[in-house]
Amino acid sequence: MRVVVAGGAGFLGSHLCDRLLGEGEEVVCVDNFLTGRRSNVEHLLDRPGFDLIEQDVSEQVAVPGAVDAILQFASPASPLDYARYPIETLKAGAHGTLNTLDLARSKGARFLLASTSEVYGDPLVHPQEESYWGHVNPIGPRSMYDEAKRYAEALTTAYRNRHGIDTAIIRIFNTYGPRMRTDDGRAIPAFVSQALRGEPVTVAGDGMQTRSVCYVDDLVEGILRMLRSGLPGPVNLGNPHEMTIIDTARLVVELVGAEVPITFMPRPGDDPMVRRPDITRARQQLDWEPTIEVRDGLLRTIEWFAAELAARPVAGAGTATPGA
Ligand SMILES: NC(=O)c1ccc[n+]([C@@H]2O[C@H](COP(=O)([O-])OP(=O)(O)OC[C@H]3O[C@@H](n4cnc5c(N)ncnc54)[C@H](O)[C@@H]3O)[C@@H](O)[C@H]2O)c1
Repeated sequence: MRVVVAGGAGFLGSHLCDRLLGEGEEVVCVDNFLTGRRSNVEHLLDRPGFDLIEQDVSEQVAVPGAVDAILQFASPASPLDYARYPIETLKAGAHGTLNTLDLARSKGARFLLASTSEVYGDPLVHPQEESYWGHVNPIGPRSMYDEAKRYAEALTTAYRNRHGIDTAIIRIFNTYGPRMRTDDGRAIPAFVSQALRGEPVTVAGDGMQTRSVCYVDDLVEGILRMLRSGLPGPVNLGNPHEMTIIDTARLVVELVGAEVPITFMPRPGDDPMVRRPDITRARQQLDWEPTIEVRDGLLRTIEWFAAELAARPVAGAGTATPGA
């Protein structure tokens, strides 16, 4: 199978490239390095079956040769990143999804959209199941991301119904692991890099808001099962183990073994109060559920960040804005 991974030099995309190549698939990574890094895929450049194309999918997607599947992961994903790049985020969800769907149509490929739990907004239903339509502020500080993904889901559905494209939609809940940027602003990379640097760990609000965090290897397994299933979705993929942000911060500090205080800062606007996936559909249809305990996932993440910070000690401020 020859798979195009749009956004393949990002956090999730690069893990997908690794895993697909490891399973003998060919991979074309398409990325413009807006929020990703060439270093995430540098180790793959000499691997047979791997191609890297530097391209902005919002402008065009040109991939020569046969393509069997397209994974549309190209979009800023952290609240800091999409606030920094609001128009680029809307264009990635709209034009980038349109261009990758057109590529799927011209190649006869299966298309998988990386949507997000953010389509549920600040949810009034808990836990969130796929039938919930969401509670989203269309002009709020997260609207460029939430609405871009909602539009991308609608476009994917229209291409399926109108053009008969074989499409899949996954709604990814907060995922963490190696290769997140220390400065991307999401809670776990921020807490880990602060604790490793011996700085105070900054929690938004009183830290009583909840998140359910999934280790990247579990998520990648779920994505590949969805890709190979032929199912349309949407399917929630995430870890239903819910924790408050303050408990997550305390656990990171404990696992790092740091003697640092936890400090508080104002919560960003429209920050969801609760977040937990109902993964009944993924369990039933994909026979999938996360297997990696949060302590194990955090230890692997801390180990990677420690090496990263030793190699690049000045990169990123690590301010916490939990979300994404
Ligand atoms: N990580 C999570 O917890 C999470 C949760 C929900 C959804 N997602 C979705 O998964 C995808 C990947 O997220 P991530 O966490 O790996 O973020 P990331 O920022 O690390 O990766 C996104 C990648 O897309 C690239 N990109 C952005 N705009 C592009 C464009 N116009 N053309 C080409 N490349 C472009 C970036 O350079 C980057 O490499 C995103 O679509 C995101 O919405 C992630």
